Amino acid sequence: MKTATGTSFAKIILIGEHAVVYGQPAIALPVPTIQLTATVTPRADHAQRVRSSYYTGALAAAALPFAGITQLVAQMLTHFDATTQGFDLTITSALPPERGMGSSAATATAVIRALYAAFDAPLTRAALLEWAGVSERAIHGNPSGLDAATTSATVPQWFVKGHAPEPIAFPTRGTLVIADTGVRGQTKAAVAQVAAALQADPARVTPLITGIGAAVKRAAHALATSDLVALGASLNASQQALATLGVSSPALERLITAARQAGALGAKLTGSGQGGCMIALAADGAHADRLIAALTDAGATSVWRHDFDESEGHA
Ligand code: PMV
Repeated sequence: MKTATGTSFAKIILIGEHAVVYGQPAIALPVPTIQLTATVTPRADHAQRVRSSYYTGALAAAALPFAGITQLVAQMLTHFDATTQGFDLTITSALPPERGMGSSAATATAVIRALYAAFDAPLTRAALLEWAGVSERAIHGNPSGLDAATTSATVPQWFVKGHAPEPIAFPTRGTLVIADTGVRGQTKAAVAQVAAALQADPARVTPLITGIGAAVKRAAHALATSDLVALGASLNASQQALATLGVSSPALERLITAARQAGALGAKLTGSGQGGCMIALAADGAHADRLIAALTDAGATSVWRHDFDESEGHA
């Protein structure tokens, strides 16, 4: 083993969360300005230690969610025939944890990249996504795989569960404002709530899920034709369905309402909801500045912006 570093990005689900678990498409984008780095440094002894803002100590002693990374690393060390190798694993992240920005998948992605580099092994995208599934399943139960697909990508992704993610072109105009409620999202609980609702009342819940899928397809068409007004309408339609599914929250609704009152073309929660972050679509940079001011006034604890022209591979 040699010293090596892996990086990954925050991700934002533009549209399609929750329905993606049931086979509907979703569109998600990496935010390269919000990065996570994992560095692995070999040690002379056999200790395996982690230093990060969520957990510091012996790798084997970590509780969930970090225990997902413990399982991942243990299986990778077996794969590399290096179970007794000592190392320090240092994780530096600009992503807020449990806010729907893919923090756990971004951690897994960077750790996998660092370990492959440390063992001088070539890493394919398919192998990376397979490995990320180890920790994501430990943390979330039944992940769609969307988070890992996006935190490991450099361009926006069209994603259908069980299929290889595909790049999707974005317009050169348009800005997303991302705002944090400051409340932790609960991915596992929110996913379980939708599953329970579906089981209890399929006649009511199935149309909400297929309705989100239909809004994702309208969003894809709007992206391809640079129609930001239609894109905003599809974001609003998906928010309506997500709120009916019970995965919005008062804090999210407050920010969504503030963004719409400030003229957002569309606004919705992003990620699993019940806390976490929301996104609002602005027509241009000046409009985004107004949305940022409105969201800050409404109590957002952090606000970021992502101009579509920062996404490589736009239409
Ligand atoms: O909250 P996040 O960023 O982990 O996103 C979860 C997205 C869901 O669609 C709710 C679940 C999934 O596995 O896709």
